[in-house]
Amino acid sequence: MGLKKIKDNVFWAGAVDWDRRLFDSLIPIPDGTSYNAYLVYGKDKTILLDTVDPSMTHVLMDNLKDVKDIDFIVSHHAEQDHSGSLPAVLEKYTHAKVIASSKGKNMLVEHLHIPADRIDIVEDGSKLDLGGKTLEFVYTPWVHWPETMVSYLHEDKILFTCDLFGSHLSVSGLYCQEEWKVCEAAKRYYAEVMMPFRANIKKHLERLGKFPADIIAPSHGPLYNHTDCIVKSHTQWVSDTVSNEVIIPYISMHGSTQLLVDYLTDALIAQGIKVERFDLTVTDLGKLAISLVDAATMVIGSPTVLTGAHPIVISAAFLANALRPKLKFASIIGSYGWGGRMIEDIQKTIPNLKVQMFDPVLIKGKPDSQAFSAIERLASEIAAKHQELGIR
Ligand code: FEO
Repeated sequence: MGLKKIKDNVFWAGAVDWDRRLFDSLIPIPDGTSYNAYLVYGKDKTILLDTVDPSMTHVLMDNLKDVKDIDFIVSHHAEQDHSGSLPAVLEKYTHAKVIASSKGKNMLVEHLHIPADRIDIVEDGSKLDLGGKTLEFVYTPWVHWPETMVSYLHEDKILFTCDLFGSHLSVSGLYCQEEWKVCEAAKRYYAEVMMPFRANIKKHLERLGKFPADIIAPSHGPLYNHTDCIVKSHTQWVSDTVSNEVIIPYISMHGSTQLLVDYLTDALIAQGIKVERFDLTVTDLGKLAISLVDAATMVIGSPTVLTGAHPIVISAAFLANALRPKLKFASIIGSYGWGGRMIEDIQKTIPNLKVQMFDPVLIKGKPDSQAFSAIERLASEIAAKHQELGIR
């Protein structure tokens, strides 16, 4: 793959994972990803910023084959997709020291068994002079783990943000010219990885505003040489503003829940509300996560399997709960054959959602006119609440 020049004496040295289709053994990544490492040569010292996923150590080591000396390796984040090749790099560059935050040091020892005496701690706000290249370290805890930090290369105005501003997108160059493509990939990435830390990211975005960046260089996906769009998008995503939108993740077994979902969809659209539906038997969970970034309301639809909610619905509800979106309202609709606790099962699964719950609509068997009236009422209640929020 080889080094790619970003600025004088600043190079991309990472690995593109064109074929990866699942992250965390959970979330689809239809466009692959990359693990970005960067090499900076000062007059006196050479530094590597992050490494790559262990599965791609050979690519990184090949990129470094002509690099004689590395003095420091910054570990912005101990998670293995960025730190996993540290042992190989340390084995080749026997005098190199790893630089990490104080929590990062402990995590690197625990996760990768890096010898503690090969890791130096840098404090928040400290600077490292490489000789004409000055790197400043900024602690950004919970972006995405407690030890995470970013760094800023003053002379070149490059902000190295590790997971922050990342995207799961594999491209052949440093930058992606198709803005829509990187925007969707970055939103998917934010939804899947960063959304639970929205409040922390909001604070960090304000702090990072004092570092004027010509280039933002994350550790996944393309770099940004026009930084406005990605910063503005994140500012919007972490804000408290929600959109006039209802998302409906659902499953139907014999068609009854489907009829309720269809009726609700039409009723909401008639009220001027945008609807996104996700048939969970076929849905891309990443798309569901993306829709959770902005939507005001979620209505979960489930049939009853034996005595409870459909397990695939529970799985999606569990994921939504873990992602902690900024939803304001929620409800549950569905059906049962002879009994069960479908509603209670779902309610128990979503304690993190700080939402106002509308009364559920639960029917036995095929919906009748009374059931459709209840759905109509639910749509009207949602519309009224959206109106109160001023999003209609
Ligand atoms: Fe890309 Fe949190 O690791």
